[in-house]
Amino acid sequence: MFKAAIIQFMPILGDIEKNIRFISKQLLETTDAGLVVLPELASTGYNFTNIEMARNLAEVPEKSAYVQMLHKAAVTNNQYIVTGFNEQCGDELFNSSLLIGPEGLLGTYRKMHLFMNEKKFFKPGEGGLNMYDIGICKLGMQICFDYLFPEPWRILAQKGAEVIIHPSNLLTHNAAKALPGIALMNKVFIVTANRIGTEEELAFNGNSMILNPSGDVLIKASSDRNEILKLDVDPTLAQDKMITSMNHVFDDRRPEQYTADNC
Ligand code: ACM
Repeated sequence: MFKAAIIQFMPILGDIEKNIRFISKQLLETTDAGLVVLPELASTGYNFTNIEMARNLAEVPEKSAYVQMLHKAAVTNNQYIVTGFNEQCGDELFNSSLLIGPEGLLGTYRKMHLFMNEKKFFKPGEGGLNMYDIGICKLGMQICFDYLFPEPWRILAQKGAEVIIHPSNLLTHNAAKALPGIALMNKVFIVTANRIGTEEELAFNGNSMILNPSGDVLIKASSDRNEILKLDVDPTLAQDKMITSMNHVFDDRRPEQYTADNC
């Protein structure tokens, strides 16, 4: 059992220093959590006006003051932190999720399915569907719009992920419809950390949540307030893949039959 915490807030577009200050203050409220999750692009905001802005706000994780601050908190609090991050790698930008622990930067997931204008700024991630065993749980990472594409969630669950972490900047209510099904079909926990507030024409809808392997929403934030959610999670519940006494969500699959031309 460990305590999971979500920090739901409104990142200020373009003001990394202010966002770092705010997040570091919030982390003082989550020292009891083994795992803390922040939204997509938490340190930069989301709605970049042009590629120059996106580039100016991108950072190499190893040189980032934001990552250094998170690492310090992870050491002090002996905890793991997952955050969305505008990642620079050479000439390319990725909409990434970083896993940071007392040991340092442990993992990066680069968003595979880019939403609308993100396609102007970021390269879609390739590969990197890793499962990380951090001791308190086995976790995988997805980001926001990835909720619409079931295959990577399945692969992470098949690799043994008990908890799938989902930093988000959600703009529609489609994730709230899809995530219970994804959690149930893979019998995993999902931790969705969304943001609130507006940036120009975009309105983000909060409702950060934690779902259990039955697809139930165990805890949910408001649509419009800064909030810290906390919940005790028993990740071993996600190891039971039986959906009835005679049905196993992976073993009952019939992949050889999943073709349109056999009738
Ligand atoms: C989204 O993927 N940020 C909607």
